[in-house]
Parts: sequence; structure tokens; C-alpha cells
Amino acid sequence: MAPPPQRLIYRPPPPTHFLWWCAAILCSLLSIAVIIAGIVIFVGYVVIHPRVPVISVVDAHLFHFNYDGAGVLVTQINIVVRSQNDNMKAHAGFSNFNLELFFDGIRIAVLSTAAPYEVKKNSSVDFNYDYTSDPIPLSPEQMEDVDAFLKEDEVRFDLKGGVRARWRVGVLGSVGFFCSLNCQLRFHPANGTYISRRCSSRAK
Ligand SMILES: *[C@@H]1O[C@H](CO)[C@@H](O)[C@H](O)[C@H]1NC(C)=O
Ligand SMILES: *[C@@H]1O[C@H](CO)[C@@H](O)[C@H](O)[C@H]1NC(C)=O
Repeated sequence: MAPPPQRLIYRPPPPTHFLWWCAAILCSLLSIAVIIAGIVIFVGYVVIHPRVPVISVVDAHLFHFNYDGAGVLVTQINIVVRSQNDNMKAHAGFSNFNLELFFDGIRIAVLSTAAPYEVKKNSSVDFNYDYTSDPIPLSPEQMEDVDAFLKEDEVRFDLKGGVRARWRVGVLGSVGFFCSLNCQLRFHPANGTYISRRCSSRAK
């Protein structure tokens, strides 16, 4: 049987709905707005060159570290934390400063500032924390850890937490950022010397 002859049928495309035109125009406008915003932010960045404020440990000292006959940890430690604002054109405000110091998983101290504080353009503020821990009872394993640290003359603490920073970026308004610290502080307990290493909220 021969195939039936094919006929070409012309079907006009359905007319584009009015709402589709609206959506298309809206999308174009939105894209243009995004591009303009991008250019403004880029130019603002190049002109103002904003820098994220940074907190870091700049110095520390371990005055005392041992446990007594009853297995209670006694420690005295000094930590200097710097809040740095590298912006040439903007003051930075810091708030909710909160750092926690751990030894062997035990939180032994909380370093915090009650009030928000300001750091002027291109400058820094140091906080000097002198901390004498509350007497902390240790488990037998933790006492062994202390003995081991004292024997190798190196003791490690963990410092974790951060601060909320806010600074103005010219016409672009105010930017908020959480500077977080998470580092290990090492000391020679025999003489209390801090083994200095990088401890900063700045991205590596
Ligand atoms: C920023 O501070 C540094 C060191 O404190 C100084 O050398 C530099 O001149 C300062 N820059 C401006 C623009 O104030
Ligand atoms: C403290 O002791 C360590 C190791 O024994 C040593 O390397 C360091 O130089 C000492 N620091 C001071 C200030 O004596």
C-alpha cells in the first residue's frame, strides 16, 4: 500500500501572552540593575579598598600552671588580643567580644568585653587579659595529661570565639562581619614563654 500523500499544514504560533512580555521586560531590567550594582560595588571597592577588621593574639604568657595535691588545676595566664582596623577611611565598631579558653576540653576562662568599642581608622586596640582560673578539679586522665605537658615542657590551650565587627564602606553603607578565632596557644610552662604562632581571624 502506498503511503498517504503528505500535506504540509501551516499552524501559526500561538500569540505570545501579554504577561510573558512583562516578565521578559522585568527580567531584563533586573539584569541591568544587577550589572549596575556590580559596577558600583566594584568601583567602590577599588576606590575605598575596604579591609575586614582583624582580631589576633599578639602576645601571651603563662605565669602559673600546675595542679595541687587535691588534683585541682591552678593556672594564671595573660593573653593580649589585638583588634585591628586597616581601613584608611573608616572607623570600625566591635561588639560581642567573646573568646573561650580551653585546656584539655575544659573551658577554663572566658575573655569578653562588656561594652562595644571603636577602633579608629588605620589603628588598633589591645586588650590585655590577665586571668587566674577558678580552681578546676581534674580527672585522673587530665592529671596525667598535665604531667605529660610539664614533662615535655609544652602545654597547649585552645582559644575559640570571636567578635562582631561593623564598619562603613563609603556610600555603600555599613558592613557587618564576624571575626572568628580558633587557635592553639602553646607555652613552655617552665619559664612561661608563649610559643608564638599565627593566631588571627584573617583569612589565610
Ligand atoms: C597607617 O599606619 C601605619 C602604621 O601605624 C603608618 O605607617 C601609615 O602611614 C598609616 N597610614 C595612613 C594613611 O595614615
Ligand atoms: C623558655 O624555655 C624554652 C625551652 O626551654 C626556651 O627555648 C626559651 O628560649 C625560654 N625563654 C626564655 C625567655 O627564657
